[in-house]
Amino acid sequence: MYKSKNSLIKLNTHKDNRGGLVAIESGKDLPFDIARVYYIFENKGNEARGFHAHKNLQQLMICVAGHCDIQLDDGNERLTYHLNSPEVGVLITKPTWREMHNFSKNCVLVVIASDVYKAADYIHDYDEFKKVYGS
Ligand code: TYD
Repeated sequence: MYKSKNSLIKLNTHKDNRGGLVAIESGKDLPFDIARVYYIFENKGNEARGFHAHKNLQQLMICVAGHCDIQLDDGNERLTYHLNSPEVGVLITKPTWREMHNFSKNCVLVVIASDVYKAADYIHDYDEFKKVYGS
């Protein structure tokens, strides 16, 4: 599964009379090996987050509870994805400036990532990001 563009993906959901289950496997559901999982929760006072880009990191973001808006800017266009389902994720496969807005109080945003936390992979300045990755 190779994706050269950031995209919304429908996750493989197993539903039966007990409810739902989503499993995500490297190589099958993701174009990268999983190195890290983290989640964002208990958003206070509708605080926005992110405001950085990654040079190499690939990620899948899933809002497993509540809802939030993910803005993704690849240097050419900015798209907003409203995430409100544990069955849908937004896949980020290239250098992308990201901002997370409008978290509901109960929002839990799970992020599955291709690498461990590396401060050197971050770009914190939007103008610098645009200069390097914009067309
Ligand atoms: P931060 O980068 O501010 O999160 P956001 O993506 O919302 O901008 O991260 C908050 C804190 O958590 C900061 O001190 C760095 C730390 N952190 C880790 O230790 N490991 C991680 O994998 C991440 C994403 C953050």
